[in-house]
Amino acid sequence: MNLTDLEKVAHAMVAKGKGLLAADESSSTIKKRFDGIKIESTEDNRRTYRDMLLTAAGAQQWVSGVILYDETIRQKSLSGVPFPEVLAKAGIIPGIKVDLGAKPLAGFPGETITEGLDGLRERLAEYYKLGARFAKWRAVIDIADGIPGAFAIESNAQALARYAALCQEQQIVPIVEPEVLMDGGHSIERCEAVTGEVLQVVFDQLHKHRIHLEGMVLKPNMVISGKKATDRASPEQVAAATVRTLKRHVPSAVPGIAFLSGGQSSQEATLHLSLMNRIGGLPWALTFSYGRALQDTALKSWSGSKEGYAQGQKEYLKRARLNGLASTGQYTAALENQAA
Ligand code: 13P
Repeated sequence: MNLTDLEKVAHAMVAKGKGLLAADESSSTIKKRFDGIKIESTEDNRRTYRDMLLTAAGAQQWVSGVILYDETIRQKSLSGVPFPEVLAKAGIIPGIKVDLGAKPLAGFPGETITEGLDGLRERLAEYYKLGARFAKWRAVIDIADGIPGAFAIESNAQALARYAALCQEQQIVPIVEPEVLMDGGHSIERCEAVTGEVLQVVFDQLHKHRIHLEGMVLKPNMVISGKKATDRASPEQVAAATVRTLKRHVPSAVPGIAFLSGGQSSQEATLHLSLMNRIGGLPWALTFSYGRALQDTALKSWSGSKEGYAQGQKEYLKRARLNGLASTGQYTAALENQAA
C-alpha cells in the first residue's frame, strides 16, 4: 500500500477553502429530487442535470472533489467526454459512492445496516480504473424511542471499517460516513450523546481494522436538534456542540472532516460550517461534503429546462463559493444577497 499517495489525495480533498460536492444520489433518491421539480427521472435527464453541475466553469476554486454514482462515472458529458475526465481536467478529484444502501437490520425493528461489502474489492479496482480516487460509504443511524441500540451501531461501524480497509488496499481514500439522522423531534443533547457514541465505536473499529487514519476523510452529521423539535438549538449552539463532540471522539491524525447537510437548509448548512471554523484551534480541516445544501437552488433553477441550465450553474457556483468561504470561517449572511 502506498500510504503517501492516499495521504496526498485525502489532503487535497480537504484543502484550504475547498470542499466536496455529493452528487451521488442513487436512482431512487434522484427520482425523489426530480419528482420535486416535476421532471421524469430518465437516463438523459439525469445526465443533463449532472452535466450542469460537473461542467460548471470555475467550480474547482471551491470544490476539491465530486462524489459520483455508478451510472454517472460511466456516462459522458453532453460534449462527449467521460465525466471523470471532465472533472480531472478541471483539477477536481472524482469519487464514487460504493455502498448499496441501508436495509432493515433483521431482528432490530427501526434500525438499518448498510450493504455492499460482497465483491467490493473487485468493484473498487474497477472504479479506480474509471478514475475514482476516493469512495464513500454511508451508515444510517436513526434516533427514536429506544433506538439506536448498541448492536446496530457496532454492526454499522464494522461494515464501515471493512469498507475503509478495502478502499485503502485498492489505493482509494475512504470517506467514512456515519450519519445520525436529524429526522424526529429529539433535542440537540440527545443528538450529541448519540453522535459521540457512534463516533467512538466507529474509530474503535477503524483502529481494529488497521485503517491508516491519515489517509481517510470523516463525513459526519452536525450535532443539531431534530427537525421536528419544538425548541431548536441556535446556530452558535450547533457549532459549539459539534466541535466539542468531534474533539472528544475524532483523532487528530484524521486530516479532514467534511460534513453532510442532512436536510438543513442551504443557508443553515453554510452558516453552521462558518461558525465552527471561526471557533479556531481545530486539529483537522472542517469543510463540506454537501448534497442538498449545494444542489437545492440549482435544481430548482434548472427545473429540466434548456433555459434553466445556465442559471442552475450560477446557483451551484454561488453555494460552492459561499461554502468555500465558510470552510475558512469567512461567510456572513450578508454575502447571500450579492450577485451570484
Ligand atoms: P446531504 O448533504 O443532502 O445530506 O447529502 C450528503 C450525502 O452524501 C449523504 O450521504
